[in-house]
Amino acid sequence: MSRKRVAILISGRGSNMAALIEAAKDKNYPAEIVLVASNRPDAAGLDTAQAAGIATVVVDHKAYGKDRAAFDGAMQAVLEQYRIELLCLAGFMRLLTDGFVNHWQGRMINIHPALLPAFKGLDTHQRALDAGAKVHGATVHFVVPEMDAGPIIMQGAVTVRADDSAQTLAARVLAVEHRIYPLALKLVAEGRVRVVDGRCRIDGTPVPDAAQLVPSDQP
Ligand code: GRF
Repeated sequence: MSRKRVAILISGRGSNMAALIEAAKDKNYPAEIVLVASNRPDAAGLDTAQAAGIATVVVDHKAYGKDRAAFDGAMQAVLEQYRIELLCLAGFMRLLTDGFVNHWQGRMINIHPALLPAFKGLDTHQRALDAGAKVHGATVHFVVPEMDAGPIIMQGAVTVRADDSAQTLAARVLAVEHRIYPLALKLVAEGRVRVVDGRCRIDGTPVPDAAQLVPSDQP
């Protein structure tokens, strides 16, 4: 089995990146993490990746000013240099140009801290609390030009508790993120995810559904 060559794009902490790196340590995992790239030189995740022996690159968006196409072009050149086949966005806080997104269509996935299509964008945990949501969670999806709108590959849910703050809710959602992102990348790397009419169909053995992904600490 040839493992897919994956790059992870980060901007910060990199805990989802770390979960993907951990999963890919298994030689039977269908993807290998060959590169971690950040648009910020101070991203803490860069140290984590280096400690795991993974190549890191910084493409500092500040060097490109407002020229998004030039930034994306520089990133693309790095990805080609490393012969990247699949891209994982993991806390990558930078809008990508349509040209870049279309180039990677079907080969670039993202994790979003909400049950899409609810709560696209930022500040999702506070917005879920403000809306009185009873269930919240995270979504892994293909990236399309419209933000947080691509076909949904996998979701994991948590129960919202009456005494939750944005922080406590975020912590439980993050634990779910760390479980579903490696599962979703595995499916994509195995070529088991087909997009039909804008929706993902998973071929082969069924995968755990969202209910099974509710962490065991849930009431
Ligand atoms: C995660 O909550 C992810 O869903 C969102 O940004 C956060 C990144 O966290 N896109 P980390 O850098 O993976 O720790």
